Amino acid sequence: MSLKIGILTSGGDCAGLNAVIRAFGKTIFALDKEVELFGIENGYAGLASADYHKMSAKEFSGILNIGGTILGTSRTPFKKLLTETEKIDAMKSNYKKMNLDALVVLGGAGTHKTANLLSEKGLNVLGVPKTIDNDIFGTDVTFGFHTAVDVATECIERLNTTAASHHRVMLVEIMGNKTGWLSLYSGIAGGAEIILLPEIPYDIEKVIKAADYSCKNKNKFCMMVVAEGAMSKIEAEMSKKDREKARAELGATGNAATQIAKILERELQKEVRLVVPGHIQRGGNPCAYDRVLCTHFGSFAAQTVYEGKFGNTVAMVDNKLVLNKLGDIAGKLKFVPENHDLIKSSKAIGVSFGA
Ligand code: F6P
Repeated sequence: MSLKIGILTSGGDCAGLNAVIRAFGKTIFALDKEVELFGIENGYAGLASADYHKMSAKEFSGILNIGGTILGTSRTPFKKLLTETEKIDAMKSNYKKMNLDALVVLGGAGTHKTANLLSEKGLNVLGVPKTIDNDIFGTDVTFGFHTAVDVATECIERLNTTAASHHRVMLVEIMGNKTGWLSLYSGIAGGAEIILLPEIPYDIEKVIKAADYSCKNKNKFCMMVVAEGAMSKIEAEMSKKDREKARAELGATGNAATQIAKILERELQKEVRLVVPGHIQRGGNPCAYDRVLCTHFGSFAAQTVYEGKFGNTVAMVDNKLVLNKLGDIAGKLKFVPENHDLIKSSKAIGVSFGA
């Protein structure tokens, strides 16, 4: 058998993309000596514009521990140039021209949505779940998440010592616009007293009270994790557009953390500092956990393609690798449930979620 396979990485990058490419490449070359593997550049943009190269086996060496992606990535890059239908048609046409038997996409929720559209158009697609947000529906874990948890935890830990020295309230804004997995895990690992998630809208009075209590009774400082997409109870009632308008009217320039920092400074009469690690959370080399997970995911993906099981994405459920149908997961997100065990344990040790 001599398969022709395209592989691409799409959406926001994260640590571990190269480790998956490596495991996929090594496994598929071992299964099919004649395989032709095409590395498609910069995500779906490269498929729509036929930007690709034939990968040689040596490209899979030396990249296990390297962050980023050797294939490049992009987000909805041609939004303004093409309609959704034109994009899909262009991708389908190039898939046919390249004579591909399969397309493997490493990406997050948006990538999987497009993967499903391509699959519905008759392309043989397989997804592999990537994102620091850990919010792809149907998998317990996505690759890149645990590296980001380690990075975010280190940020919190470093901020803890300086917050303690100055007796300050320290806020750290952690990535995650729609879901709070990264904030929850790094908040717990970094020992934060307050963790605000998009899924649990906060009551500002409770946040003030918890920060005040922490400064007066606990540590004489307060470490607070605020997810990028955190919002107040009042804001949660609004549409995204109205929320942004309301924030702009208050003169807020950033996300919720910016507003909260100002309010706490005023109410507690203490020095408050806000730190936004931003894309540092996405950069750098994968942690050991991710290297193992990516090797597992990549190798399983190659085996799946070899067996011709398409229209799926790889997932980890209860520590077992499984396949989820793209149609079952596309367009959905895995949110942090309000009664998640980790939230219960955190509350039991006195962490406030501001609700
Ligand atoms: O999806 C990963 C993520 O890092 C989110 O946590 C964040 O909201 C977003 O990407 C940032 O995207 P960009 O790199 O386009 O600024």
